[in-house]
Formats: sequence, structure tokens, C-alpha cells
Amino acid sequence: MRVVQPIEWTPAGVVMIDQRRLPAELVRHTYTDYRDVAAAIRDMVIRGAPAIGVAAAMGIALGVLHSEARSIAELRNEFPLICEAMACTRPTAVDLFWAIDRMKRRFEELAAAPNLHAIRDALVSEALRIHEEKHAIDEAIGRFGAALMPESGQVMTQCNAGALATAGIGTALGVIRIAVEQGRKLRVFVPETRPYLQGARLTAWELAEGGIPLTLITDNMVGHFLKTGKIGAVVVGADRIAANGDTANKIGTYQIAVLAHENGVPFYVAAPISTLDLSISTGESIPIEERPAEEVTHIRGIQIAPDVEAANPAFDVTPARLITAIITERGVASPPYRDSLARLFSESALQQEKGLAVARERPAPAR
Ligand code: MRU
Repeated sequence: MRVVQPIEWTPAGVVMIDQRRLPAELVRHTYTDYRDVAAAIRDMVIRGAPAIGVAAAMGIALGVLHSEARSIAELRNEFPLICEAMACTRPTAVDLFWAIDRMKRRFEELAAAPNLHAIRDALVSEALRIHEEKHAIDEAIGRFGAALMPESGQVMTQCNAGALATAGIGTALGVIRIAVEQGRKLRVFVPETRPYLQGARLTAWELAEGGIPLTLITDNMVGHFLKTGKIGAVVVGADRIAANGDTANKIGTYQIAVLAHENGVPFYVAAPISTLDLSISTGESIPIEERPAEEVTHIRGIQIAPDVEAANPAFDVTPARLITAIITERGVASPPYRDSLARLFSESALQQEKGLAVARERPAPAR
């Protein structure tokens, strides 16, 4: 099945699809300055938790590659500034901070590197590895999740948790893709996801490109279709999952979960282990990004409301008790999540260490 690539490392720089312009135009930008990569994350050229993690890692690699530092000591002074530029872009998705931490750890491991070349090579390789891993992670999530989908009928998602959002095959949409590849006859109900319209603009586009049947609905139709539309399951992505399973995802996810619960529809969260934030006990501590009011009062530059105050929290938190299961690349976590997530997290950390050791013994990927 054809999947779109939202970001690529090329000899000319980091190339991104401008997701703000989809579906009307497929435009790509090439970035050679890490500050521009940070601006692209902040301004939503690229979005979706895992994809902004990949962008941050590539931004850091770009910063190191083009740094004017003439010694390792000079680069050591500049490196935290490069990382900070990525960290202050968007606050909610923890994958961003996970990717920055991974690049920082790699930098620390290079304390004994013989020269700047070796550091540059190693950090570019690390960013490419973070990107490469996304496909296998999403496919594993997809396989675990597909088994939970109905044999046929309708499922619902929210926002865009597809290839555009992960730089792999998608998490929630990866589950649906693999279920369809396995022969399940599914139709996806796609809420438009106001105010930024990731459902209407991106998910509808990705599903249509992949030949997966869909029905686009407005956000206020969700309750109606969960009650009457024979929806067999809801599957969404996540931006940050607290230790108790409370999950931050795109604004509107919480009301879908409440309505799914009310109507006896299973509600699944599909996300990589990198989206777990076990340092946060409950969802109450997850920082919620507030975006500009114009995204609510205007649609594509056209004013649709008078000049009044408008609120625009970009995410909400769904309490763990409304979540039927959390699907990760290491398996499916069931309630109580404190135990099941902690177990998956520690197994994954061990696997990650082993995997990285093997990967680093292989030659660096071509670039
Ligand atoms: O504001 P966005 O478009 O970055 O929000 C994206 C979402 O909320 C996604 O559902 C989430 O990041 C999961 S992506 C696999």
C-alpha cells in the first residue's frame, strides 16, 4: 500500500511536505538551517507526535552538520542551543522531547570522539536511525491493533494519526491500513477535527490515496454516528500518555471517548512506546498547547466569527477509564495501565539497548 513520506533527509537538506497546504497542493520545502526546521515544527509544516520527533532529530543533526564550531569544545557549547531551539516549538507531544533526549544521549556517548567529523557522522546517523525505526514500529502497532478491529463495518478515528503524522505508516491509521490489507472490510468515519481540520484535510486525503473507504463527518456528528452508525471501534493516536494511561490527543478526542463509552463502542489508543511519559503520574500534569485564536475565528484566511475572544487548546486528555486498550509496538496494554504500561516500557528499554548496539555496528546509512 502506497504511503506518503512527510520528511526526508537528502543531500540538499531536510525535505518536508508542507502539510498546511494539503490537500489542495503537494508542496515540499528544503531546510538547511536548524532554526528553519524549528520554525517548520512550530508553524505546523510538519505535525503529529512521532513526525515532529523525527523532524527535531533531523534539525539537530542539521545544526551539528552546518555548525561553524572549529573544535569539539566549541560544538559542546553550541549543542544545547540547537536542542533548545527544537524543544521550545510545541509543548504537548512527548515524542519531540524523547527524540531530543536521544540525540543528547548520543552526543554524550561521543565524549571520546577523535574529531568533529566523527561527531557529525554519528549524529546524522542517529537521526536517520530514529526515522528508519518508525516504519517497523508502526507496522508492529498495526499488526497488534488490526487483531482488535471488527471483521467488517465501520470504525472511527480523530485528527490525523497516519503516515503524515508519524513518518512511518501511521499509528491509528496504520492499524486500519493493516486490518484492510488483511482483508477486513472497513469504512472509516473521519471527523473533520476543527479548528485545524487535520481529519478533513489530511486523514481524508491519506485514506483516499490508500484506497480505503471513508465517510467524512463534522465534529458535531460524532455522537449521532456512535449511537446509530454501527461503529465497531474507535482508534486514535496519542501525543502523551501518563503512567496511569490518561492520554493527551487532539482536541475533541475526549468527547469521542465519552460518547464511545456511553454507546458501548471500544475505544483504542495506538501509539509508540516513545509516547509514554512515565515521569507524569496522571494526565493532569500534561502541558496543553494553546494555539492562536485566529485558527478558530478564521478558516483558511476567511473570517467566520466576529472579533471576539476565542479559546484554542490544541489537545485534551482522555481519562484512562474510558480507554479499552493501548496498542504499542511491544504489545497491547490493558487496564490497569500503571502495571501494563510499566511492563511494556521496561521490556522496550531492554530491546532498544540491544537493537541500538546492533544498529551501531552496521555501517552508517547512505546520505
Ligand atoms: O496538532 P497536531 O496535528 O500535531 O496533532 C496531532 C495529533 O493530535 C495526533 O493524533 C497525534 O500526534 C498522534 S500522531 C500519530
